[in-house]
Amino acid sequence: TYVIAEPCVDLLDKACIEECPVDCIYEGDRMLYIHPDECVDCGACEPVCPVEAIYYEDDVPDQWAAYTKANVDFFDELGSPGGASKTGKTSNDPDWIKALEPREH
Ligand code: F3S
Ligand code: F3S
Repeated sequence: TYVIAEPCVDLLDKACIEECPVDCIYEGDRMLYIHPDECVDCGACEPVCPVEAIYYEDDVPDQWAAYTKANVDFFDELGSPGGASKTGKTSNDPDWIKALEPREH
């Protein structure tokens, strides 16, 4: 799977959403999250993010390692909805993400 990391926080550019063929990039309050089971590893989202927030799971920079789990934990209650557009924005951000200081971009 691919993972969205810290640069997305409070930016939510959403260019990635347009590229995903399986609609597996879900919107939270502070950032977007890639569904770890629905992502088919096509990689189309990664180059279009203007702040390089998206990484293949094995390539997530060490300082953002916790974001790999955040992209899993966001779906604890949602499960596997099978489509971000029909799900819409939800407030399932992990507590530690919700608690991050506001980011200026
Ligand atoms: Fe975030 Fe980049 Fe997508 S900022 S919403 S991961 S294009
Ligand atoms: Fe979609 Fe990116 Fe995965 S475009 S299928 S979330 S690699």
